[in-house]
Amino acid sequence: MTGDQMIELCRQHTLFEWSAQSQVDPIPVARARGIYFWTPEGKRFLDFNSQLMCVNIGHGDERVVRAIQDQAAELAYANPFMATEPRARLGRKLAELCPGDIDVFFFTNGGAEANENAIKLARWATGRHKILARYRSYHGATGAAITLTGDPRRWAAEPGMPGVVHVLDPYHGIERGWESAAASLTMLEEVIQLEGPDTIAAFILETVTGTNGVLVPPDGYMQGVRELCTKYGILMICDEVMSGFGRTGEWFAVDHWKVVPDLLTMAKGLTSAYVQLGAVGMRRGIADLFRDKVFYGGLTYNSHPIGCAAALATIQVYEEDGLIEKARRTGAVMRELLADLQRRHPSVGAVRSIGLFGIVELIRNPQTRQPMAPFNGTSDEMAALGRFFRQEGLYTFVRWNSFYTNPPLCITEDELREGFTIIDRGLEIADRAVTP
Ligand SMILES: Cc1ncc(COP(=O)(O)O)c(C=O)c1O
Repeated sequence: MTGDQMIELCRQHTLFEWSAQSQVDPIPVARARGIYFWTPEGKRFLDFNSQLMCVNIGHGDERVVRAIQDQAAELAYANPFMATEPRARLGRKLAELCPGDIDVFFFTNGGAEANENAIKLARWATGRHKILARYRSYHGATGAAITLTGDPRRWAAEPGMPGVVHVLDPYHGIERGWESAAASLTMLEEVIQLEGPDTIAAFILETVTGTNGVLVPPDGYMQGVRELCTKYGILMICDEVMSGFGRTGEWFAVDHWKVVPDLLTMAKGLTSAYVQLGAVGMRRGIADLFRDKVFYGGLTYNSHPIGCAAALATIQVYEEDGLIEKARRTGAVMRELLADLQRRHPSVGAVRSIGLFGIVELIRNPQTRQPMAPFNGTSDEMAALGRFFRQEGLYTFVRWNSFYTNPPLCITEDELREGFTIIDRGLEIADRAVTP
């Protein structure tokens, strides 16, 4: 098929997500390798977003492809009441990688289902029903997960699941900026008291918030949340669907702060999206509750053998190629490149990164710090910047007044600089809109 044929048929017979269908303008993709992907006509894109912040090991790694092929040939599927070798091996491997005594896993199809099951586990384990979540968050598009989500993607799904209470996080947008960990924790404790600690089962949070702005928590925040949760018997659920598997330069972002949540959800980088798989990991004490009590959860594709085999092969790639340390090293270079953009471009209001998880926030006025596009909106300049990136063969995620720098962890320093050269030129578009 040509690219145009793909686009036409996809638009005619399939729905694109989070969009009015008349507005979508998809890139047709035919193949991908390493940090690049190509259209059927051979236009090459540097993938500066690892697709949807998920292809962490890079595209087309033959070690994973082979593992998928071998597993498909040997045993493509067994129902989830059965035991299989990839399921057994993956459970053991994740127990080794996850922090503390998180060593029991329930496998799902992706991140949203991992969060759905985390919520169920927390409610059963505590006998309480409320769940605290944050406004600047995304936890998935299914029933409970979209209710937990704090950002505007939730609005159309309201009222959603009862019992979810949203709290503010330490970041208040480009104009107001950050508050301290201490101030944010004081607010959180006040909400806990006002809601009634004995009614709250869990607090779910993205360890490093993803699509709401690569929000790296101020030091002390994660430890403080852990202490408050412990103090009030509330389970701490860390959503590491995006921040897990090396994205931040550690296996899991919680490892930066040495915090052990009660439940940890993952997907994306678990298989680098070669096939779909998610999981919720739980501390041994939570798993033990289900020794004699029924675990009321199930999915036809729970512990799918091909998903588990792909995850095992992907984890082996992280290990063999030292990708976690590489993300940390290349991440240090990216931090410098981001800082350099901020020094030279008046439109750059803020840059943030941890490992190879990065974002640039644009402003149109350095005094008022008015964002280049409003909250939940776009602007001519942001749209023009998106078009420029596309024309220059740089793929990344442009959202509101921001764009992301989240390349596959296998990217070299030179390739990273190649991407930043395009960004540097593109920012001239935004700079022209800045009022001095
Ligand atoms: C932090 C976070 N949680 C959950 C999800 C949902 O995962 P999925 O789309 O696999 O259901 C996402 C997806 O982007 C995410 O970024």
